[in-house]
Amino acid sequence: MTQPSRNLAILGLQWGDEGKGKLVDLLSARFQQVVRFQGGNNAGHTVVVNGQSIALHQVPSGALHPECFLVVGSGVLLNLEVFRQELDRLLQRGIDVTDRLLISEKAHIILPHHIALDQWREGGAGVNKIGTTGRGIGPAYEMKAARMGVRMGDLKHPETLMDRMRPGYNEVCILLGPDAALPSLEAIASQLQAWAQPLLARIGDTQAHLMNAEARGEAILFEGAQATLLDIDHGTYPFVTSSNCSIGGLFTGTGLSPKSLGKVIGVAKAYTTRVGAGPMPSELLDATGDRLREVGREFGTTTGRPRRCGWFDAPITRHAVRTNGADGLGLMKLDVMDGFEEVGLVTGYRNSHGEVLTSLPSCAQDWLGVKPEVRMFKGWSQATRGVRALADLPKEARVYLDALMEAAEAPIAYLSTGPDRDEGFAWPGLFLEGMI
Ligand code: IMP
Repeated sequence: MTQPSRNLAILGLQWGDEGKGKLVDLLSARFQQVVRFQGGNNAGHTVVVNGQSIALHQVPSGALHPECFLVVGSGVLLNLEVFRQELDRLLQRGIDVTDRLLISEKAHIILPHHIALDQWREGGAGVNKIGTTGRGIGPAYEMKAARMGVRMGDLKHPETLMDRMRPGYNEVCILLGPDAALPSLEAIASQLQAWAQPLLARIGDTQAHLMNAEARGEAILFEGAQATLLDIDHGTYPFVTSSNCSIGGLFTGTGLSPKSLGKVIGVAKAYTTRVGAGPMPSELLDATGDRLREVGREFGTTTGRPRRCGWFDAPITRHAVRTNGADGLGLMKLDVMDGFEEVGLVTGYRNSHGEVLTSLPSCAQDWLGVKPEVRMFKGWSQATRGVRALADLPKEARVYLDALMEAAEAPIAYLSTGPDRDEGFAWPGLFLEGMI
């Protein structure tokens, strides 16, 4: 009989920034391969090395564990300048990942004109402003779908690099006009080659690499970026990113089959945050929202923007649990809710006609007027910060968490009670027990 796969996916269940990086960091030591499979430098997580924080955007979080091999899959977008800066910053802290890194030759490259187009839409032109990170993510994925993208493998063929770039570049020039002041194609090509030179030996067939690793019995950790409600198909379209950040993107972004997956951890905060525009029925535009933002330090890692804050939203999380087949929740930042007199839980939605919704709206128009049904719970005066065992949680927090699990239709597999590695615990009797 075949053994169940030990491979594990860590995916976001809300609008990103759930704290996936902490779980990846806690678990990486048990995995030989850590893989990013979608998104680009719109993602961001802060890791602490020798007491100093480094913001990583594209390098998999497993970088900190010397035994982990790092894979950047085909579904990822790379900004080579940022990638090189991240590798350099790690190197300055004594972490050299170059011998344990493989980048898919199919991964697409974010080019300067993609960034210019993203910013043109968001800024000056304002024709389709949704509050992107301005990193060129949408246009780079558009070029991929329009078959005008440039891939990491193209860097190994410098003689055709300009030809690969020209169609997309010309289209952006037409759209943006001469005032856009884009660098010339020649300048872009030579800059790309300069950045790529030290990486050329690290570009290869990541699908084969991962399949071989599996055949050797190694375990793979899949590190999601962004989250289900930002998924281009299953999120709050059009206020989404341009990749599949839920489970489907894992398979297209690695080339592995669904049979390669063991368990799925869905990561959510004990409350809800979102950056950028779009529906968020749980949003609190009052002092309570401000308090969550201040205590939870809810400001973007990538852009520094203040995040919108609200109570835990069970309808969106349940949707994400179902979409991803999450086996359990990684529930983060419970301690941020310490000391509130009351805490809320969004248990359901009603539409503008007062009807109860049993699934999420699909269209932006149908989100308008959606109202949350909020159940209030007594808060806890005893702090949860740093709690490392279920028995040590205040009883009011247990009541809240039990209701949250029931409403989200998933058990908590890991509870985080603070930013440090040892602040939190694996839920007894669940699959992470003994792993963290
Ligand atoms: P884009 O991914 O830059 O195109 O931005 C599209 C939407 O996704 C915007 O609302 C962004 O704020 C949001 N977004 C993209 N990446 C992240 C992330 O890592 N965390 C939270 N929100 C994100």
